[in-house]
Amino acid sequence: MTIRLRMEINGRSLETEAEEDLSLLRFLRERLGLAGTKNGCGKGHCGSCTVIVNGEARRSCLLRMKTLQGAKVLTIEGLSPGPEKPHFIQRAFIEEGAVQCGFCTPGMILAAKALLDANPDPDEKAVRGALRNNLCRCTGYASIIRAVKRAALLMKEEGTGRPDNGTPEDRTLDDGSPEDGAVGRSVVRKDAPAKAAGRPIYADDLSCPEALFGVLLLSEHAHAEIQEVDLGEARACPGVAAVLTAEDLPGRNGFGLFVPDQTVFARDEVFFRGEVIAAVYAGTREQAEYARSRIRVRYRKLPVLSDPEANFGKRARPVRPDLENNIAHHVSVRKGDSKKGFAEADVVVEGLYRTQAVEHAYLEPESALCRPEDDGSLTVWTGNQSSHAYRALIAASLAMPEEKIRVILTACGGGFGGKEEPTVQIHAALGTLKTGRPVRITLTREESIRMSVKRHPMKILMRHGASRNGRLTAMESRVIADAGAYLSQSKPVVFRSAVTAPGPYEVESVSADSWGVYTHSTPRGAFRGFGSTQACFASEIQMDKLARALGMDPVELRRRNGFSPGSITCTGQTLGDGTAFIATLEAAAAGLEDMKAEFRPRPRPDHIRLGFGIAGAYKNVGIGTGLGDGAGAAIELTENGRIILRIGAADMGQGSDTVAAQIASEVLDLPYDLFDVIACDTGTCPDGGMTTASRQTFVTGNAVKKAAAAFGSLLAGYLPAGAGARDSAALSLAWKLARDSGIIPRAEEYYLPPDTSPHRTRVEPPADGEDPTRGIHYSYCYAAAAVAVEVDIRTGKITVLKVRAAQDVGKAIHPQNVLGQIEGAVMMGVGYALCEEFLEDEDRCITDTLQKLKVPRIADAPEIDAVYAEDPQAAGPFGAKGIGEVGLNPVAPAISNAVFDAAGIRLQELPMNPERVLAALAARDPPRPPGVFQAQRASPPAWDGNDDKNCTRGGASGSSDCPGRG
Ligand code: FES
Repeated sequence: MTIRLRMEINGRSLETEAEEDLSLLRFLRERLGLAGTKNGCGKGHCGSCTVIVNGEARRSCLLRMKTLQGAKVLTIEGLSPGPEKPHFIQRAFIEEGAVQCGFCTPGMILAAKALLDANPDPDEKAVRGALRNNLCRCTGYASIIRAVKRAALLMKEEGTGRPDNGTPEDRTLDDGSPEDGAVGRSVVRKDAPAKAAGRPIYADDLSCPEALFGVLLLSEHAHAEIQEVDLGEARACPGVAAVLTAEDLPGRNGFGLFVPDQTVFARDEVFFRGEVIAAVYAGTREQAEYARSRIRVRYRKLPVLSDPEANFGKRARPVRPDLENNIAHHVSVRKGDSKKGFAEADVVVEGLYRTQAVEHAYLEPESALCRPEDDGSLTVWTGNQSSHAYRALIAASLAMPEEKIRVILTACGGGFGGKEEPTVQIHAALGTLKTGRPVRITLTREESIRMSVKRHPMKILMRHGASRNGRLTAMESRVIADAGAYLSQSKPVVFRSAVTAPGPYEVESVSADSWGVYTHSTPRGAFRGFGSTQACFASEIQMDKLARALGMDPVELRRRNGFSPGSITCTGQTLGDGTAFIATLEAAAAGLEDMKAEFRPRPRPDHIRLGFGIAGAYKNVGIGTGLGDGAGAAIELTENGRIILRIGAADMGQGSDTVAAQIASEVLDLPYDLFDVIACDTGTCPDGGMTTASRQTFVTGNAVKKAAAAFGSLLAGYLPAGAGARDSAALSLAWKLARDSGIIPRAEEYYLPPDTSPHRTRVEPPADGEDPTRGIHYSYCYAAAAVAVEVDIRTGKITVLKVRAAQDVGKAIHPQNVLGQIEGAVMMGVGYALCEEFLEDEDRCITDTLQKLKVPRIADAPEIDAVYAEDPQAAGPFGAKGIGEVGLNPVAPAISNAVFDAAGIRLQELPMNPERVLAALAARDPPRPPGVFQAQRASPPAWDGNDDKNCTRGGASGSSDCPGRG
């Protein structure tokens, strides 16, 4: 029923009509165009839609219009005039680096305002309480807490007592003026002011009133034959412009970055529950959804093969008819003679480890807007991790030349690997092609969870041998990864799980095998850490076991074996400059001692056990392995004296736009604020490759450096000398002079990183003249984490008290950004360790909401003490390398090690939830003190099927029930 309402929105009276059950969120976004209020889930779980109603922070998706008669509503648009003049809560968020992808930011800021209105001097507990309903997937909440405290401070400094009395004018943001160079300074991020102001910058925010709404019909079953699809009734529904299926696709019915094996539309059979059967395009979302409900699909259910081990064997039934067997990928690594290595070992430990599927849970659901152009081409706006890759996949499916497709990156509300491949973009473009009208498709949260790739669950059997003095003599691993129904990124993920299995340690002999196995599960793909995360969980617990078996300090064991320049990896690569693992280890170890001093004296009841743990990690920077890994950059001067930087690096919130501008500013010795960055527009930007593998700072950074140098040479003859030569007036004059000389002030360069080699199973000594440092990757990054935990042995709850996270970054181009990436990675690691899991069964997605996925909230955030080590790598831009992923890896094993320290239980399966803790405590019979190895259940995929063992020769501590190995 429609009702008449009188309301006040952002200080303006409004008389309007609305359906009584319409949500305030939709009213604001769709009727008033106030797109700063974000739609992250529509269920009240994420808080991205928070606005202030009658002085209280409220989630607008939960409010119905019928309850809002006379309400006063404040949205982010009403908080300040815009990005140029931010309210000081917005300013505090910008200054503290609390804006990354920015999707949570408007809701966070308004929740903070409601708090500060009521309590101008909140302590941390009050801040956490006020933001309890607001999720952030990027920041780890640390910078957000700092931002709210800073906002309170700003209020006090101004003496206003209230945050809405004006904008402080006496605080100057770091604008990157060139006196000290822009590199190494925490300048204001290029994207932060617009994000904090809630500008309509994400794909679903873009206004296009004539656009059709597209919705997708997804499979109801994990595996079924499609016997009939009846579209007749749906096509006759009001407002429907088209209902399309595989029959309507003019080009390839497949996509995928390695092999285009995943169907755009399922045709005869479905292989997981997120497959698209049909797409409906109609005038309104309601019309499209209604028509979708009228599509009749007749299925014949088929056996669901969801166990990778059962699917592993030669006689196993293939998951898809086009497969000969279910092995998606197999990688072997052989260094030295591991049999000999184990024979020489004084101590051998092994264990079976299991990690879970995880949803990326970026707060912006997938969205695309496609528009037809007069020349027959299509323009697609969407958040993504590589516009050029999307363009190629869309063009192939639509059978159009790539030049006829333009993909423009909008702001991207988080990706973490989950937006490397398309979801809705091909369907949006197809709808436009077939109807000739703009088409918008935005997934609901439930659809996003069903369709998008997940982190690979892995079962890992690992064995280590060491000499009495702690030298690692041998390591073996066998990994079975659940690849899901289609290949996606399983090849490189499985690869990384093998080559990083020994961790950041030089091991004399290595035998590592990893397999990816197809199942009827949601496809597994790229996710921050990319296979190294799972291997790290196993190998770092192994290191803890080894240390205890040897009676050695776990830090010392790592110190003795840790990578340093000259170390040789398991793939035979001699590591060079910038190998700073030991620096991160020492920083984490120092933090460990500080935490012991801090937490041990605190009184606690007997059922709360305190423990400490440490772990290290390493990961590649860049794609490597002999594959194309370059990036381009272009710089041009505009008539009004500004410099436009065009790059192909997708900024998902990690700050690559800002880093690129800093590098150009530094090279050109021109003010940072004169640079505008345009990224990932296939019509105007060079290709930068995928934003993946922590590579963009390195490759696009170097491309920008090259382009800036060329641009500087070009410009040199036209810029007047003197200090004024560095302002926009001088640049404008230079533009005119260059034009009069027939010169276009523009430079474009392409950077190719150092050569890498394809992977060879067996390490061979370098041939004569071969560079021993040339290996499968041109750069690696390192990290270590130390944690303090409390374990409640009555409830099984693990509380992470504090994390000291240390990371090697080469050179911190933007220190605040670096720390923000580390903090965000740590928080994601805590969720991975303790609570997050994606679960599905044959006929349903069990964890179909952010709440059920247990995405960590601010209450779950530990204190994070992030530090970084700078050991420049000469090939990186100003010595920098990638930082985005590795910080996540050591967190889960460090927590597991700390739990063992606290309660004497080895948790080797993720997530380490209370049920698993209680089960492990119950299995501890008789209870043993820390330091004694615990056997746990095991059914290893290889070797002899024995349980975890801790085998000691020659009198080192530990059990001695291990049969002779090696
Ligand atoms: Fe909070 Fe991305 S900045 S979700």
